[in-house]
Amino acid sequence: MIRYSKILGTGGYLPDEVRTNEHISETVDTSDSWIFERTGIKSRRIAAPHESAASMAETAARQTLEAANCDPNDIDLIIVATGTPEYVYPSTACLLQHRLGIKNAAAFDIQAACSGSIYALSIVDQFIKSGAAKKALVVGTEICSRIVDWTDRGTCILFGDGAGALLLGASDEAGVLSTHIHADGEFEDLLYCRNLQTATLETQEEAGFINMRGNEVFKVAVNTLGRIVDETLEANNMAQEEIDWLVPHQANIRIIMATAKKLKMSMDQVVVTLENQGNTSSASVLLAFNEAVRDGRIKRGQVVLLEAFGAGFTWGSALIKY
Ligand code: UT7
Repeated sequence: MIRYSKILGTGGYLPDEVRTNEHISETVDTSDSWIFERTGIKSRRIAAPHESAASMAETAARQTLEAANCDPNDIDLIIVATGTPEYVYPSTACLLQHRLGIKNAAAFDIQAACSGSIYALSIVDQFIKSGAAKKALVVGTEICSRIVDWTDRGTCILFGDGAGALLLGASDEAGVLSTHIHADGEFEDLLYCRNLQTATLETQEEAGFINMRGNEVFKVAVNTLGRIVDETLEANNMAQEEIDWLVPHQANIRIIMATAKKLKMSMDQVVVTLENQGNTSSASVLLAFNEAVRDGRIKRGQVVLLEAFGAGFTWGSALIKY
């Protein structure tokens, strides 16, 4: 019998502070209309000083466990995707394991920038299908506001904070149908955040902040996401019309619209959260998925395409029967 990994529950967390485009316009040379027209973003959430990637992950994970009615000690694998961990080590996944009171699980972080949650989902799917794990938690958690240069109008308008989570379990019923992950390190210079701890005298000035050549990233993102849509449909021998929902990474509404157009999908079938969340990097797809499950848009049995693109470059997709 084929084993699938199936989504048993979802959760999310957004910090309380809302930072609007107007707020940002007070300190850098930009405007609400420019930001909204070029990105689709109106506001983003900002974590409070006492919050961390792990604390936000905990709230999202607890909500997920509650939705799935799952005892934390039934979890045998935790994968956290984050580019903004509190520590170099231990991993955020280990901190989360402790916060949840789980004693007997493997826990590790993965780093694939904005594609992190798709990478984590893909790894979990392999673990579950092979029988190496029965229940696994995937979390994407980011405090992007702490690695944003708030004087750089090319990046500070884009990012926000939050955490999203999924619980996956072994099932004989169809769940994750396929995952596809890719990388191309050639584009290091277009989007990076240099590690503050390992920076040298020459590099320390830019270290710790997101650096991006936005327009060039934009073009590669649109082309690459178009290709991964084709790859996913072909791998599943599926036609565009069979997809009920697109849950894209929330970087820019124009990138999302290009992918929807490629799939000939109406924007009514696309889950968009970036207007009030901005780009929450590895949390964005999971937050969007959680929102649409909780408000009843995504229903059991429907086919959902998740996709993401980020620094590396990394990119990936997952086709899921929810
Ligand atoms: O999640 C990881 C992947 N990241 C992405 O996918 C981000 C992809 N990139 C983008 O979303 C877009 O490239 C941006 C929103 C970052 C920028 O939009 P754009 O349409 O590509 O603008 P641009 O960089 O080509 O800049 C156009 C003009 C420039 O002025 P000049 O040279 O034409 O006079 C910029 O200096 O807009 C100017 N500009 C701004 N003006 C007002 C750039 N940022 C701003 C700003 N406010 N915040």
